[in-house]
Amino acid sequence: MQKKIIEIIMSIETSCDDTSIAILRNGIVISQITHSQTENHSKFGGVIPELAARLHSKNIFNLIDLTIKDAGITLNDLNSIVVTEGPGLINTLQVGFLVAKNLAYALNIKCYKVNHLIGHAFSPFINESKEIIPIKAVVLIVSGGHTILAIKRNHQFEIIGSTRDDAIGEVYDKVGKLVDLEYPGGPIIDQIAYENGNRNFLNAPITNLEKFDFSYSGLKSWVLNHRYENKGELLSSFQNVAIEQLIIKVNKAIKKYDLKYLIIGGGVSANRYLRKRIRGIKNIYSFLPKKIYAVDNAAMIGNVYFKSKKNIKEVLITDDVKPNLLMEI
Ligand code: KG4
Ligand code: ZN
Repeated sequence: MQKKIIEIIMSIETSCDDTSIAILRNGIVISQITHSQTENHSKFGGVIPELAARLHSKNIFNLIDLTIKDAGITLNDLNSIVVTEGPGLINTLQVGFLVAKNLAYALNIKCYKVNHLIGHAFSPFINESKEIIPIKAVVLIVSGGHTILAIKRNHQFEIIGSTRDDAIGEVYDKVGKLVDLEYPGGPIIDQIAYENGNRNFLNAPITNLEKFDFSYSGLKSWVLNHRYENKGELLSSFQNVAIEQLIIKVNKAIKKYDLKYLIIGGGVSANRYLRKRIRGIKNIYSFLPKKIYAVDNAAMIGNVYFKSKKNIKEVLITDDVKPNLLMEI
């Protein structure tokens, strides 16, 4: 009988304000612990990169220890370490990268680097078999830093559209700030709009640029000009058209590229209205991450190692992070 190889990896994600550590065994998440810094940044209304980096440095070793214990293993059981290379904030990425690189060196194991956006793109398939991943698909990444529409072919991603101004998550958070919500505004607006039926009460304008690019600055100004209207109606109207813009482009891409599959990832993919609208698109099969894997998490980084092994690279001792990486593997 052939012996099944057991491969245990630890993954580290510090691209923004979450310190997240996960342990995966043969592609299955056996433990994940995430420390969110939201409370530390909320009083500033957004993430302060230097503070974020300091908090990552302060917490990362304790989190590694806790996650290893929670998984019921020791550091010596690890076969390799996988870390986010970019995109993200330079000084927060560096904390995770340096820890991963040096810990792997000390343990005499390999260290691999993963693109954060590709982590989001494979996040619906965490704990799932590789076989269910469509070879060709439309991919929508919606997060605090990105709004990207891409075409996936095997393990390559061709970006066909992205935002010309703010990312959608960023707009949610800025709109939240405009109406005095706590940071991050995204999940709170989701809830308020839900309670108001997600309707466009105030006739907020729908932006629809040519081709596949997105723009949210007009909508942001519209909210600013209407900020004294009823809050529920205002936020419901905002969300209705913010999501409509995504749906229009997704439909257009499905048609133009004649594809049957849609993959979504990123923090905003946790949004209930977006999920409902995506599920309502006819004649396509959509893959959405579980809500815990929609927002930044380390499991999605380790998951890329198991789903796309041939395409990820080892971290060399001279390597540094890449804060402006797009969807290259
Ligand atoms: O992917 P993510 O955790 O971090 C980045 O890579 O940027 O995304 C964070 C973003 C924030 O802007 C947050 O407000 C937004 O995702 N977000 C949401 C929801 N949950 C998180 N936006 C709308 N509705 C939600 N339920
Ligand atoms: Zn992200």
